[in-house]
Amino acid sequence: MVSYKELGLVNTKEMFKAAVEGGYAIPAFNFNNMEQMQAIIQACAETKSPVILQVSSGARKYANQTLLRYMAQGAVEYAKELGWDKPQICLHLDHGDTFELCKSCVDMGFSSVMIDGSHHSYEENIELTKKVVEYAHQYGVTVEGELGVLAGIEDDVVAEHHTYTRPEEVVDFVKRTGVDSLAISIGTSHGANKFTPAQCTRDANGHLVPPPLRFDILHEIEKQIPGFPIVLHGSSSVPQEYVETINTHGGKLKDAIGIPEEQLREAAKSAVCKINIDSDGRLAMTATVRKFMVDNPDKFDPRQYLGPAREELKKLYMHKVNNVLGSAGKA
Ligand code: G3H
Ligand code: 13P
Ligand code: ZN
Repeated sequence: MVSYKELGLVNTKEMFKAAVEGGYAIPAFNFNNMEQMQAIIQACAETKSPVILQVSSGARKYANQTLLRYMAQGAVEYAKELGWDKPQICLHLDHGDTFELCKSCVDMGFSSVMIDGSHHSYEENIELTKKVVEYAHQYGVTVEGELGVLAGIEDDVVAEHHTYTRPEEVVDFVKRTGVDSLAISIGTSHGANKFTPAQCTRDANGHLVPPPLRFDILHEIEKQIPGFPIVLHGSSSVPQEYVETINTHGGKLKDAIGIPEEQLREAAKSAVCKINIDSDGRLAMTATVRKFMVDNPDKFDPRQYLGPAREELKKLYMHKVNNVLGSAGKA
């Protein structure tokens, strides 16, 4: 049993309280490798933004959970080395789907876990979430639950349509499970194709304009559980410059579209205190690497293409914390 406290990590309790009161959101950036982790820490150390390092079950399979945990421990020391005296870094399991997986992460030093029971029936979701909360809370590990299903691929389950969170269920769910935060579904979805062209309109230049998030549902939820920490998954904005760079350098991303940044900024001012971003980082890295490969056919040292990719990622994360989430300067 390794406690997250020994690793210098923090849970989400204080982070979320300050974020809800302060009208900003904590970034939850997914990572799978060293360059992504370095970029996240460099950006957050430089801007003094609290941060949640997110590990999906796919990331655990890809990189190994022991390695990722030591990387998070290393991240705390690295942040200090970069001049961040008291780093506020949380290591969080993203979309845990079983009690066993959540328990294993708690036991291995994660400071926060998500149990995503959203594909189960309401009662089964409550039962599973409660079981994880009861275990995790013994060790001070915070727990995120989810109500409502995001369209797209979530936990390898493909849902064609959103099942928006039902505001009338949230009080009961929060009370009976004891969760510390709640992920909701108000129109975001995972990946780089968040809406089909048929769901969008077009602006004067013919660019796709996505339908707005369901702020009415968010506000209704806030009324039911005032001040309770809300989480938004699927919140990449899919910057079109990256999509264009990818597509002009051999890639084929069709109709890629994300959540406009102004809407995320608006959400961050509410009880939404954690915003999940993975796809934008993937696009930044892929665009940079693709361009490098086309421009430098004679180069083969991974540092020469992963270095610029890491730089671009850092730029992206700094932009998010400064201009979208508003978390810069809060740690
Ligand atoms: O919610 C999904 C995250 O973007 C993680 O994706 O399962 O491919 O690592 P992944
Ligand atoms: P994006 O695919 O929009 O980056 O969402 C990531 C996410 O929600 C991770 O849980
Ligand atoms: Zn997610």
